[in-house]
Amino acid sequence: MKIIKTDGMLTVEPEQFAYLEGLGAEFVEKTLLTEDALIAEAKDADALMVLREPITARVLSELRNLKVIGRFGVGLDSIDVEACTRAGVQVTYVPDSNIDEVSTHALALILSLARKLKTYDSAVRKGRWFAMDDGAGITRPSKQVLGLIGFGQIGRLTAAKAKAFGYEIIAYDPYMPAEKISAAGANPVSLEELLGKADFVSLHIPATPETRNIISADALEKMKKGAFVINVSRGGLVDEAALAEAIRSGHIAGAGIDTFEKEPPSPDNPLLALDQVIVSPHAAHYSTQSYAEVRSKVFADVAAVLRGEKPKYPVNFKG
Ligand SMILES: NC(=O)c1ccc[n+]([C@@H]2O[C@H](COP(=O)([O-])OP(=O)(O)OC[C@H]3O[C@@H](n4cnc5c(N)ncnc54)[C@H](O)[C@@H]3O)[C@@H](O)[C@H]2O)c1
Repeated sequence: MKIIKTDGMLTVEPEQFAYLEGLGAEFVEKTLLTEDALIAEAKDADALMVLREPITARVLSELRNLKVIGRFGVGLDSIDVEACTRAGVQVTYVPDSNIDEVSTHALALILSLARKLKTYDSAVRKGRWFAMDDGAGITRPSKQVLGLIGFGQIGRLTAAKAKAFGYEIIAYDPYMPAEKISAAGANPVSLEELLGKADFVSLHIPATPETRNIISADALEKMKKGAFVINVSRGGLVDEAALAEAIRSGHIAGAGIDTFEKEPPSPDNPLLALDQVIVSPHAAHYSTQSYAEVRSKVFADVAAVLRGEKPKYPVNFKG
């Protein structure tokens, strides 16, 4: 049996290799980031371990031995799960290794923007100590509203953490019963209401055709003047050109962006030219602990499937 890890990025430690003991499988690492590369180099794979590689129907039709795909993380937008199911390929993922990290990162962006840390940092470095007024407009959390779009695992934990700082929390999630949102201490609202009320609009939703550009030029216009946009979920949820324009016009005060439509973003991405925007390299999930956990869970599940056992985190064939 052959397992190919194709992301070319994540390192593997002895604690992960331990899951393959006794399996008698060959483990190979190759960087195969395109459909063509996967088809050319992974034809004989029984298992793939992937990060963001395109697992399409075309790739699946060529990888005839494939039995299982383990995805390092929760997002499945790079995998055609329906095509995997049709091909009899088990997909596994890791939905729960970095909820703490992503919610903390969202809060870090919110608080940094709220406290104008970038502005103050730059003033002090330029030798301006009496720069208090640069923070004009800074407001207490207890006087501000955090609007969460998506109230799943990460949305809920972001709400719990933000509540401790005093923010009023409102949430829009049409697939979550309103009682569940209320029970978690947030007010369930429509998207329109959220956009009109929130000082911070934070996205915690998957990338789907329905959520594409949910923060569009029109949505930005409906937002409060001086509000902020936070995206630690997926690129494609925010119309980046429209957001940059809304910030330049002064309607939106700034943004915290961890995920971009194109990653890495091109140097001429308009958001990168704006001081009011804090960016990070799709790193919201990262901590020493989450990084180890996500790899171990993929190795454990891929090994389980190759042994003929049920994986702990199946995406398809759940029965
Ligand atoms: N930046 C990172 O490093 C990183 C790491 C992990 C996860 N993520 C992202 O965070 C997102 C949220 O993760 P999670 O674990 O909370 O997922 P989850 O599945 O628990 O929650 C997603 C929520 O979004 C809701 N939703 C779906 N479509 C919606 C819509 N159109 N409008 C409003 N709500 C909608 C669902 O009902 C669900 O409650 C993931 O989809 C992933 O894209 C990013």
